[in-house]
Amino acid sequence: MVSRSLPTFEHVNLQTAIEVWVGRPGRSVTLRGVVAPPHFGPVSLQQLVAAQGIPPIRLAAPPLVDLPNGPDSTLACLLSAVLLVEDARGRYVVMVTGPSEHNPGLAVEVAGLGVARAQSVLVELDALRRELNVYRGHVLDVSVSPMGGVVLAFAKPAHLHRDDVVLPDAVLTRIERHTLGIADHRDALLAAGQHLKRGLLLYGPPGTGKTHTMRYLLGRMTGYTRLVLTGQALHAIGSVADLARDLQPAVVVLEDVDLVAEDRSFGPGSSPVLFDLLDAMDGAAADADLLFILTTNRADLLEPALAARPGRVDVAVHIDLPDARARGTLFDLYARGITTDLSDTDREAIVQRTEGVTASFLKEFLRRAVLESIVEAAEDVEGAEPAAVTAAHANRALDDLLSDSQEVTRSLLGVGNDPTLLPPGGGAGALPPRRHRGFGWTAYAPFSGG
Ligand SMILES: Nc1ncnc2c1ncn2[C@@H]1O[C@H](COP(=O)(O)OP(=O)(O)OP(=O)(O)O)[C@@H](O)[C@H]1O
Ligand SMILES: [Mg+2]
Repeated sequence: MVSRSLPTFEHVNLQTAIEVWVGRPGRSVTLRGVVAPPHFGPVSLQQLVAAQGIPPIRLAAPPLVDLPNGPDSTLACLLSAVLLVEDARGRYVVMVTGPSEHNPGLAVEVAGLGVARAQSVLVELDALRRELNVYRGHVLDVSVSPMGGVVLAFAKPAHLHRDDVVLPDAVLTRIERHTLGIADHRDALLAAGQHLKRGLLLYGPPGTGKTHTMRYLLGRMTGYTRLVLTGQALHAIGSVADLARDLQPAVVVLEDVDLVAEDRSFGPGSSPVLFDLLDAMDGAAADADLLFILTTNRADLLEPALAARPGRVDVAVHIDLPDARARGTLFDLYARGITTDLSDTDREAIVQRTEGVTASFLKEFLRRAVLESIVEAAEDVEGAEPAAVTAAHANRALDDLLSDSQEVTRSLLGVGNDPTLLPPGGGAGALPPRRHRGFGWTAYAPFSGG
């Protein structure tokens, strides 16, 4: 009896591999489901062969579980089945046991062959799983199950255009060069003896577009396996980095790293998650086409660890609050598709009044302005079509968002409560200083190692 246990996210790959393997010339296979009454644990092939301690099982049509094998497709996968095989090796049995209520694992067992031949069956299935891996080239959201296993969910890449990302051109170009540029010129770089593995850190205040920029990059990196880890999923970085290596070229996104950086994987005394991240980034071979993107608004928390172990992150880019020009562009971007009746002077006034706010604040501001215009139109004549957004609507929306009573709202939109932003007459009181500004890093400076 030779068995192999696999992570549960491999279930769909195992099924894909089995379907191809079963159809290979010279092989005939009879499939039977192994069904036990409810409340009995899983039955292993070992138990079946030894005929000991088994529940009253029946051979029946195989139970199947329908699992995603792409963003828009699923594959019915065997849950508890035996394959009675006859091929050049002889006659033997392969059993597949998928995860179920009583059994969190996925296992393949082979009986009826010598050990080496049984192993060769597993090797064939491994090779097919790797070759036909359904996750390759897709965007995948990584999460962790309550049992601690890695769960992969297909996601759809965002279709963001370069113009949708409002950043100073030099900043965006720098980010693109380090991510897309290396991808485009991988062969030339390898020929010149240069490594492809790279790490990019995007840091800056909340709501300035770190996640937005990352989504834009992922959308452009078609052909790459793109694994996105947030929150608790960052604890699974070890297995995810292995997966990324198998499925390269790959991108591993570590979102809001600061949130777990100081967590310890296995209680006090073990290493902080941040160190696991750095280890994983270091573990990959230098010529692997792997890109790590880290985002954070607490670069101050990460910098000492990154500086102490140089070479993992080679470019750090500061994404700052939008300046006047960027605010104008953001305004135009979010005003696309909205009917406005605003003069250049009105637009300029809005840009001036929103000094210090984030992109997400501007987005919310426009939504409120549109709402103002809809409410006003409906108040005049019920059911009336909203007229264009005027300066009066915009100012009312802005007055409200910037008023004293909206301190928490502003904070949620990532804006510091800067007294100079408040409308005339809005008593500022003792307002907290603006959060997360300026980390004392040189923007765009590569880590130097000390
Ligand atoms: N530079 C930008 N250009 C265009 N839109 C932006 C930009 N920044 C933010 N936005 C808009 O604001 C929303 C929120 O921004 P995003 O989630 O990218 O912020 P973040 O920097 O990741 O913040 P956090 O630190 O809280 O994670 C985005 O979905 C996008 O619509
Ligand atoms: Mg974010």
